[in-house]
Amino acid sequence: MATLLQVKSSIFGDNGNSSQLANDFIRAWQQANPNGRVVVRDVTAEPVPHLTAEHAGAFFTPEADRTEAQREIIAYSDKLVSEVRDADVIVLGVPMYNFAVPSQLKSWMDQIARAGVTFKYTETGPVGLIDNKPALVFATRGGLYAETPNDNQAPYLKQFLGFIGIKDVTFIYAEGVNMGDEKKQAALADAAKQGETQLKGILEKVVIAA
Ligand SMILES: Cc1cc2nc3c(=O)[nH]c(=O)nc-3n(C[C@H](O)[C@H](O)[C@H](O)COP(=O)(O)O)c2cc1C
Repeated sequence: MATLLQVKSSIFGDNGNSSQLANDFIRAWQQANPNGRVVVRDVTAEPVPHLTAEHAGAFFTPEADRTEAQREIIAYSDKLVSEVRDADVIVLGVPMYNFAVPSQLKSWMDQIARAGVTFKYTETGPVGLIDNKPALVFATRGGLYAETPNDNQAPYLKQFLGFIGIKDVTFIYAEGVNMGDEKKQAALADAAKQGETQLKGILEKVVIAA
């Protein structure tokens, strides 16, 4: 059974443009793959705690030496990591807020970046410890940034996912959604169409139980 992890990060929940694009894609995925499992991690509905010294301390303390509080921190982080590890495909809805990823999504990234768990350093550089898998990012923006030096968001997300091992990352942009309704509708329709195109390839890549 193939598992899809959906990571939602719009502050507008399912009304967010990024969520709507991801939800449409996932509905089509479920139709094509009725035995598939969808796991939803909504980082705005259920905020992931900001990284603190306590979190970092727990991450760096050997298992046998952890306090009860540190074990709780690790258990929570491990759950987020296992959602990523167990997924066959990951779909992220990522709005641009103030030139960056939503801070809620950054918190999620901070909780899954774990030395010895999701990456390790070697003599030849860092190695991701999560198996590669397709990740599809629906990136929604009020303005126009894609493929320009002003886009600090997509390259950062790509670098992060690659760092933990997920190198098969595809971005689908809906840009200019705050530049008039006509432009918005055209951008959303185009992004939805690109999602349909990506679906076929992703279904081919991911083993689907009949
Ligand atoms: C608080 C806030 C900050 C935003 N900052 C940017 C920005 O820096 N650049 C941009 O192009 N659009 C910006 N936008 C517009 C959003 O990227 C756009 O509305 C997008 O659809 C948000 O995705 P969502 O609907 O899934 O939440 C911002 C919107 C909000 C609400």
